[in-house]
This record gives sequence, C-alpha cells and structure tokens, in this order.
Amino acid sequence: MKNWKRSSLLGLEDLSKAEIMTILETAESFISQKSNRISEGSLLKGYRIINLFMEPSTRTRVAFEIAAKSLGADVISITGEASSLTKGESLKDTALNVQALGADAIVIRHSSPGSPLLLSKIVDVPVINAGDGAHEHPSQGLLDIFTLRQKLGDVKGKKVTILGDILFSRVARSNLFGLLTLGAQVTLAGPSTLVPLEFEELGAKVTHNLQEALTDADAVMLLRIQHERQSATHFPSLSEYSKMFGLNKSVLDFMKKDASILHPGPINRGVEIESSIADSDKSLILDQVSNGIAVRMAILYLCSNVRKKI
Ligand code: CP
Repeated sequence: MKNWKRSSLLGLEDLSKAEIMTILETAESFISQKSNRISEGSLLKGYRIINLFMEPSTRTRVAFEIAAKSLGADVISITGEASSLTKGESLKDTALNVQALGADAIVIRHSSPGSPLLLSKIVDVPVINAGDGAHEHPSQGLLDIFTLRQKLGDVKGKKVTILGDILFSRVARSNLFGLLTLGAQVTLAGPSTLVPLEFEELGAKVTHNLQEALTDADAVMLLRIQHERQSATHFPSLSEYSKMFGLNKSVLDFMKKDASILHPGPINRGVEIESSIADSDKSLILDQVSNGIAVRMAILYLCSNVRKKI
C-alpha cells in the first residue's frame, strides 16, 4: 500500500487525506459485494493480536476481535479488572510482558490520554489506539466517516454536525480531524459548558443554538454525556439537557428530510436521542457498528503489513 507507512495508529490528527482514504478503501475491499459480509482471509494467519481493554467496551472490543479473527489472526483480550494491573503492575510492564508472550500487535483502550503513544515507544509491535481518555478514538472516527461516505458519497463540502458532550469526547476529536482533512464542514454544537469556542481554532464552527446547528446539516452525529470523564456538573440536569439539546420529533421538523443520524454508542435513549428516532430509517447507528469490523480489519492489516516489511 503506497500511501501507508505507519505501523501504529494513534490518532487521526496527523493523518493525511491519502492515508485516511487508504484505510477506507482497504476496508471497502474487505466487504464482499455479494453478501455484504466480511470476506474471510488468512492475511494475518499466524499473528497474535492482544486486546488490552482497561475501560469497558462492547462495540470496539468485539469488532477488533472479529476483525483479527477474520484476517486469520489469533486474538486474546484482556480487561483491566482481570489483569495484574490490579496487583500494582504498571502499564509499561504489562505491555512488555504481553510482547514477551508473542504479541504481534497490541490494541489498547485506556482512560489516560496518551497511553497508546507511550506504549508505542516501549514495544516493537504495532499499537492501535482503541480510545484514550478524552483524546482520540481513531477507529471510531474512521468507521463513522466510512458510514457517512456510504450514505453521502464524498464528504467534501458536506455539512456534518456533532452534537453533545464535545469537551469530553474522543469520538468528536477523531471525527473532527478526519472530516476536516477530507474537506467536510463540521459544526460542533451543545451547551456552552461542553462546547467551548476554542474548538473554532481547530477549524470547526461552534454554536450553542440547536436550530442553527441542525437546519442545513447533511448528517448529525450525537454524543452521549460522558459522566465517567466529568468531575463537575456541566448542566442543571439530564432532563434539562434533553429538552434543550436532545433529538426528538419536534427537532426533526427543522432538519433536512434526508439528513442522517449517527451515534457511536452506547446510546442513552430518551436523553440525547428519542428512542423512536434511534430505531428509525434515518438512523445509521447499527450500520456504524457493522462497518466497524471492516474498518478495523483494514487498520490491523495495514499496520501489521508495514511491520512485516521493517
Ligand atoms: N463507540 C464505542 O467506543 O463503544 P464501546 O465503548 O462499546 O466500545
């Protein structure tokens, strides 16, 4: 792959358009035309991929497991509670031990921003960031963009609104970087306490007015309130948040009729999204989840392939 020279994927902030397109096109190649099922393969046969998940996860962990198995790799998943981190072992020692056990790649989710970068400097194998604190969640950003492109075609010039808890969201950051690199117009919206104007310096439009945020959006990406990363209350109550910024039927009235709705999950029904909208045909939420397999296959394949050549 001429446009791919990285053995680790730590974030989307410094990825070029060519690199992002290489991942998306490789993911596309893993989806079989006939059945829309993931092609089986042996591209990573004999590889041992270790998932280190130090924070809870359903979608990301399972998708990385299926992706590794679909490529023929062996995959072992370790959670924080079930690891020797609970006995005082450091993340560095955990990583070195996992490498000594024959890991060919490490996928890590951790509450501390920068832990994947730290690991990439300690071990000699590819490190894939599966979400680090409020920093980045690159595989999620890529699968969101992959899903948007399935619906909208080229995202260049398309208007995408990310609505909700932007301040504490790694998903918002990865999407912002990836979408801007591909030429989309990104609006960040939500309460002023969760959407600081400083985000405009990154190239997004910021608004605290729901109607302004949604009127001409081609797609809206909702985010849940990330209580686990907030040490203070940023709005009076969840019901107040829902009234002001939740997506309900009356909000749909001022959105484009064909606007798509995305959410990285887990969704909080009745808070950021009305249940019937989450289940409606405007929702791409489960398409995002399914696409996560092919996108993660592409990431594992591309990063492992670079390492093979070193
Ligand atoms: N979107 C996402 O990261 O979901 P999980 O926490 O379930 O992996």
